[in-house]
Amino acid sequence: MHIIIKDISKHVDKEVEIKGWLYNKRSSGSIAFLELRDGSGFIQAIVSKDEVEIQVWEAVEKLTQESSLIISGKVSAHPKKEGEFELQVSNINIVQISEEYPIAKKEHGPDFLLDNRHLWLRSKRQWAIQRVRDEVIQAIYDYFHEKNFIKIDTPIITPNACEGSTTLFSIEYFDQGEVYLSQSGQLYLEAAIMSVGRGFDFGPTFRAEKSKTKRHLTEFWMMDAEAAYVEHEENMQIQEEMICFIVNRCLERRGEELEILERDLEPLKKIKAPFTRLTYTEAIEKLNSLGSDIKFGEDLGNDDEGLLTKNEAVPVFIHKWPKNIKPFYMKVDPENSELVLNNDLICIEGAGEIIGGSQREDNYDILKSAIDKEGLEGPEYQWYLDLRKYGSVPHSGFGLGLERTVGWICGVEHVRETIPFPRMINRVRP
Ligand code: 4AD
Repeated sequence: MHIIIKDISKHVDKEVEIKGWLYNKRSSGSIAFLELRDGSGFIQAIVSKDEVEIQVWEAVEKLTQESSLIISGKVSAHPKKEGEFELQVSNINIVQISEEYPIAKKEHGPDFLLDNRHLWLRSKRQWAIQRVRDEVIQAIYDYFHEKNFIKIDTPIITPNACEGSTTLFSIEYFDQGEVYLSQSGQLYLEAAIMSVGRGFDFGPTFRAEKSKTKRHLTEFWMMDAEAAYVEHEENMQIQEEMICFIVNRCLERRGEELEILERDLEPLKKIKAPFTRLTYTEAIEKLNSLGSDIKFGEDLGNDDEGLLTKNEAVPVFIHKWPKNIKPFYMKVDPENSELVLNNDLICIEGAGEIIGGSQREDNYDILKSAIDKEGLEGPEYQWYLDLRKYGSVPHSGFGLGLERTVGWICGVEHVRETIPFPRMINRVRP
């Protein structure tokens, strides 16, 4: 009977068949230990020369790393490790003997591994990261559906700029002139929630960022969420609740993967609402008191984010930023017209900013002048302004960067490992 490794515990003492690849082989005299993978997991298969047909042993001798094979045998509990299982092999069908595999056990440099990303993905660490990524995606869908948010698919080809004109990828669109790849689905989501009340999108977003840091990709996946009649404080509550949900889900379901990644689980177990809240003004004061020379009105750098979260057990909201360093759509703080009702969420353990969000400007005239001030006037923003003419309501939302979130949960330093095929300023292949 064909089974997948993930289900092995249900088949103890039974004859089963596994279809997969050889991850590793060791042999000592007349016993061979084959480490198999089938996509769902890894298992050790044991072949005793004296107990199998001669052609089975010959097959074992021929097998190279990454050869594809169908293997049959009896499942047994691991003699020493509780909860682990082995396969006592009776037969092997070789599907293909792999050529010498370029990624060997030895250390390889990042450029070599990225050039071979199509093969590197098969390594145990990359397998584990992709499975955590999948879990985070699933958790986000589950969280929002539980909270009555509807999935809305926003467009990727857009004639407007959501996050400023300096990081746009442009394309010629037939006879319609220059259009761009989406930086965020937010503006379209704002239109959709005036229909469905609460919505989220999830898709690739594009930034022609010149930054060569460990946290920047030119193509990354963002989840934008948006909700009508939600204001600034509730917007932050939704964010912290969602982050707690995602972390708990990964702890519950991805223990094996986090163990492969040697992730210290203690910091993740301590993630609980409420998260720390600092206004931007308080954050600057705190940074200055810690020795930083940052001035009011400047953006926070990596070092500043590190300093602000150093002694924190939970992520930190930095909210109410100066209006002039933030995008046009953020709602002006009624208590201080120089500030906006927004927040960044800065993660612990050096993972940096994972969410940017805000209450949106819902007043037609204020929004119109903010758009004009940024030089964005014209037909591309008229439909967005229309939303403030026909039943405008207070509303808020935020965007979560998937790769940075997965990087944090996995304890992986560079976001390039958290997306299957990373695109960065110096890399667009394979
Ligand atoms: O803070 P950002 O730019 O927010 C927006 O785009 C809003 N329109 C979202 C919204 O309110 N619906 O981006 C949101 C998140 C960041 O916090 C970060 O996690 C991630 O997207 N991000 C990147 N991730 C990888 N590479 C990049 N170049 C990124 N730029 C932003």
